[in-house]
Amino acid sequence: MMNPGERSVRSWLLHPTEKIAGAIRVPGDKSISHRSVILGAMAHGLTEIHGFLQGEDCLGTLHVLRALGAEITESGQGCIRVLGRGPEALCEPDTILDVGNSGTTLRLLAGLLAGRPFFSVLTGDASLRRRPMRRVVDPLTAMGATIFGRAGGQYPPLAIHGGELRGIAWTTPVASAQVKSAILLAGVQATGETHVTEPILSRDHTERMLRAFGLLTRRRGRTVSVSGRGRMQGIRMVVPGDISSAAFFLVAAAACSDADILIQDVGVNPTRTGILEALRRMGASITEERVRAEGGEPVADLRVRGARLHGTTIEAELIPRLIDEVPALAIAAALAEGETLISGAAELRVKEVDRLAALAGELGKLGISVAAGQDSLRILGGRRLCGGVVQSRGDHRMAMALAIAALFAQGEVRVEDVACVDTSFPGFARLLAEVAPGCGIREIEDAN
Ligand code: S3P
Repeated sequence: MMNPGERSVRSWLLHPTEKIAGAIRVPGDKSISHRSVILGAMAHGLTEIHGFLQGEDCLGTLHVLRALGAEITESGQGCIRVLGRGPEALCEPDTILDVGNSGTTLRLLAGLLAGRPFFSVLTGDASLRRRPMRRVVDPLTAMGATIFGRAGGQYPPLAIHGGELRGIAWTTPVASAQVKSAILLAGVQATGETHVTEPILSRDHTERMLRAFGLLTRRRGRTVSVSGRGRMQGIRMVVPGDISSAAFFLVAAAACSDADILIQDVGVNPTRTGILEALRRMGASITEERVRAEGGEPVADLRVRGARLHGTTIEAELIPRLIDEVPALAIAAALAEGETLISGAAELRVKEVDRLAALAGELGKLGISVAAGQDSLRILGGRRLCGGVVQSRGDHRMAMALAIAALFAQGEVRVEDVACVDTSFPGFARLLAEVAPGCGIREIEDAN
């Protein structure tokens, strides 16, 4: 795995196109992939994972679990096997654990390591070292772990000495699945019960997967509870396609008058389908076909036909269900008639980059009128986008959203700094070329 600092600087060149068609599959869900190997390493026996996302973030989780002594093998067909011997079999790493760009790895592993009686240090790249950690440090410390971080525990590196934990009842002020999951992963190692209450329900993959591994979890309203010290048993699972990756193709097809695409095997967990709801509110034609359940997660094929989109209002309640899709949604808003207001989105300021500022700045370069407020975006859509040079700012979802915008521009668009896309969606450019060959997406090495 390369550190972002070591990445070659690459750009995409794209042209507008008026046709988007075909049947595709997107790579495995990032959140579910992380959790599958973490829970596999905490369980007893074999966990076999099919469709694991081979992106840098999830490979980083594999790397760190191996440094903790987990036995993980990979077969050529993208199948990962974890031979778990319970959390007690994990051992003190002899080096710093560098998780690159992955906030999920850092926060979830903080929860796991809080319960282990040894010393470890978690760190990441420059972007991750600027992201807030008190949200996990405070509850894990209250449960009995000793954790130090920069600025009083606010920023990584985090130095953790875990040990005997007590269950807690914790109310988190932010709707964050990473925070909830960190507390639950500590809770399963603690004595007694652990309860987490969040202001708005965030993605519930951890709760679902803990159940699949044999633990009892309960949800009452916005509170989820788990009993400590239960024994987890390894499972076989298939990771569904990531709706956050599908989102770029959903938006491209929804806004293109001559489009008809099928995205197969996408996870449609209701805590993740805010993007479907938002696009439908804007007039998009999206149908869910072959809806089924796989390993406790709903999965479907999504068919999208082009339509005329119109602006809408996205309120705070919906944000956790589309938290990673706002860059894609902003492109849909730019292509829709009228104004779109996205509010209650302050969490976007502490993602891989400040996504509210990044969207306002980069979409502005394509002639889109975007105003970023403290926690909001106001986008005036319906005008023709112009060509130009835009920057991902090192954020994978910004890079992909900008590539989708380029399909609708009036001239050539150059998206700079696109190597970051490999963190969540290796093969994105190839898939885009497949469904929208007219865009002629081409990757070039930057001169400098
Ligand atoms: C994730 C939770 C979300 C999301 C991230 C993945 C997870 O982060 O943005 O990409 O897998 O738990 P927050 O918990 O910070 O909202």
